[in-house]
Amino acid sequence: MSVETLKIDGDEYIKTAQTEEIPEGRGIAIDVDGIEIAIFNADGEFYAISNRCSHQSAPMCKAGEEKINAEHTWTKTRGRVDAEDCSVTCPWHLWKWDLESGKNEASGQRIATFDVTVEDDSVFVRI
Ligand code: FES
Repeated sequence: MSVETLKIDGDEYIKTAQTEEIPEGRGIAIDVDGIEIAIFNADGEFYAISNRCSHQSAPMCKAGEEKINAEHTWTKTRGRVDAEDCSVTCPWHLWKWDLESGKNEASGQRIATFDVTVEDDSVFVRI
């Protein structure tokens, strides 16, 4: 299978998803050459960040995922995307990560972020 790529100023971006595959306020996980990346939609802006929280390796893509019990009488979400301050909160212990810098202010830790560009409704990420 061939990978669709895009060249911008000499940098190669890899096609990862269509914009409609990533709902507002949610994320998806992708694997590029063994690198786990979460791509989030924050009010129509797309961001790519490591899919593994550096605290205890939670899958960041689960932030904001809704869990519903069998009777549909209980729902719960953990973590969320906040477009206003451009952050995502980890679904396990709620550490907040800046989507642009990958920084968690409280711990001083940083996780990887990746440049993103959207072209013709396709989301491209530079690894
Ligand atoms: S695993 Fe993310 S805050 Fe603990």
